[in-house]
Amino acid sequence: MAIMTTTSSHTFLPVLERIAEEIGHTPGRGRPADYIPALAARDPRSFGMAVAELDGTVYGVGEWREPFSTQSITKVFTLALDLAREGDELWEHVGREPSGNPFNSLVQLEYENGIPRNPFINAGALVVTDRLQTRTEDAAGQLLDFLRAESGNPALDFDHEVAASETAFGDRNAALAHFMASYGNIDNDVTVLLDQYFRQCSVAASCADLALATGFLARHGIRADGTRLLTRSQAKQVNAVMLTCGTYDAAGDFAYRVGLPGKSGVGGGIIAVVPGRCTLCVWSPGLDERGNSVAGVAALDRFTTLTGLSVF
Ligand code: DON
Repeated sequence: MAIMTTTSSHTFLPVLERIAEEIGHTPGRGRPADYIPALAARDPRSFGMAVAELDGTVYGVGEWREPFSTQSITKVFTLALDLAREGDELWEHVGREPSGNPFNSLVQLEYENGIPRNPFINAGALVVTDRLQTRTEDAAGQLLDFLRAESGNPALDFDHEVAASETAFGDRNAALAHFMASYGNIDNDVTVLLDQYFRQCSVAASCADLALATGFLARHGIRADGTRLLTRSQAKQVNAVMLTCGTYDAAGDFAYRVGLPGKSGVGGGIIAVVPGRCTLCVWSPGLDERGNSVAGVAALDRFTTLTGLSVF
């Protein structure tokens, strides 16, 4: 597998090389998401993995520079952008407990009066995007600006084909948004909110871009340019919710195997944070039945096993 680097200080490169070789020999990679037809065409054998150090050094193996559909990974960034603006008031509108249910589940919402369990299931992410939209009038644009700035990649953009594909098959997200609106937990017109949310999910970015963009969570809230986005305490909160809720009904198994705050997306990407040390992003489009990348989880599992780095 080709190995490319961008700078000379690459502490974990030998570990990444070993993981890429092991993954290359592993059969069974799951299946790409097909409920969004534009995602179904990706090759499940694609694999890339990048590490970003706190100073912005980034390196990787495999297809670490290949853009893929970020999908639910963006929920971390919209959460941080909204939390930075409104602080604890957000938690009156979305909880922070694991749901134990699939990412697109409707069942808890009625029992819990339209307050979603956490910001990483779709219902919770819709609430966060709605609140960011109210505060900025362009939630998806704010997200894109943030990702471009943190990754240093001004070419990052929405994938309009993916957004259109998801809009065409968006009945479940529309149901979630309307249901929460009936409880008064959505401010904006649902059509406007869904447009923002689907564009948010459609952003295409590489492992290198996303590992860099996640850096503020390893730097306790400090952005790439040295300014503060989140308080140290808020950065801890986001990392904690990633650990407990970032991989949906597989969050317990992810914490057990990987032991890091992580967030997956149905495009096959997963970001992970080693607070105070580095960030990671891995991508492989084949998913397990809970919507997490099979090779991605395996690669992060190997990373923490081989390096001994975890939050435990
Ligand atoms: O809302 C959806 O269905 C997608 N756009 C995002 C889902 C997603 O990535 C869930 N993650 N595993």
